[in-house]
Amino acid sequence: MKKLVVLFSAMAFLMAGGLVLAHHGPENVTFSAKMGAVTFPHAKHQDEYKIECQTCHHTGTEPVEKCGSCHGAKEGAPKMKDAAHDLCMGCHKEKAAGPTGCKDCHKK
Ligand code: HEC
Ligand code: HEC
Ligand code: HEC
Ligand code: HEC
Repeated sequence: MKKLVVLFSAMAFLMAGGLVLAHHGPENVTFSAKMGAVTFPHAKHQDEYKIECQTCHHTGTEPVEKCGSCHGAKEGAPKMKDAAHDLCMGCHKEKAAGPTGCKDCHKK
């Protein structure tokens, strides 16, 4: 019984560690745009603002694909600009937190 408990805690530890390493993604993401590049603090949105992966990644399961592999590339997926503005500005407006002015996100 004791052995089993030790085994389960070890597994839980490994799984928790593994998930963080395998899924976390980049600290920051930079989108280039004619309006000026947008720096998206990815890690902050995960860790500080506690937003669930699924909010932005549709399913939240592996593999995590680049937005641009569908948005602006595949039929049925809205243009990247529209998806980004709806998602990013939408939440910032709703929560009254985070940048909503064009030049607060787009920096030349
Ligand atoms: C607020 C929105 C948002 C949240 C929340 C979020 N992500 Fe992301 N994530 C993005 C965006 C945007 C990108 C950049 C995708 C691109 O370059 O097209 C990205 C990129 C990634 C990448 C790299 C993909 C690649 O191929 O370059 C991984 C891995 C990832 N995210 C995992 C996660 C996980 C796991 C969580 C939850 C713990 C999470 N993300 C939460 C928006 C988010
Ligand atoms: C495998 C293809 C695929 C990938 C990868 C993908 N999307 Fe989508 N997305 C779609 C499709 C198709 C739709 C339209 C149908 C729907 O709403 O489900 C959509 C709809 C959306 C919408 C709602 C439409 C809108 O204009 O408000 C948002 C927001 C969005 N995606 C954001 C993202 C973000 C951010 C990423 C990258 C982190 C991403 N998507 C990655 C295929 C994808
Ligand atoms: C579901 C909600 C949500 C989504 C989706 C979201 N954000 Fe945010 N964002 C926040 C919150 C909350 C803050 C924190 C505001 C504060 O604390 O003042 C924030 C802050 C920021 C900041 C300022 C960071 C800083 O250091 O002050 C930037 C830049 C930003 N978001 C860009 C984006 C971009 C780009 C996207 C889309 C790819 C996005 N956000 C999607 C909720 C969201
Ligand atoms: C919360 C951050 C945010 C705010 C606020 C924001 N944008 Fe964006 N915008 C983005 C992101 C992310 C993209 C996607 C870039 C890409 O196509 O990869 C984008 C894309 C665009 C594009 C298309 C890409 C290009 O090359 O120019 C235009 C035009 C644009 N934004 C204009 C605006 C204008 C005008 C405003 C103010 C009304 C605005 N944006 C406010 C984040 C933001």
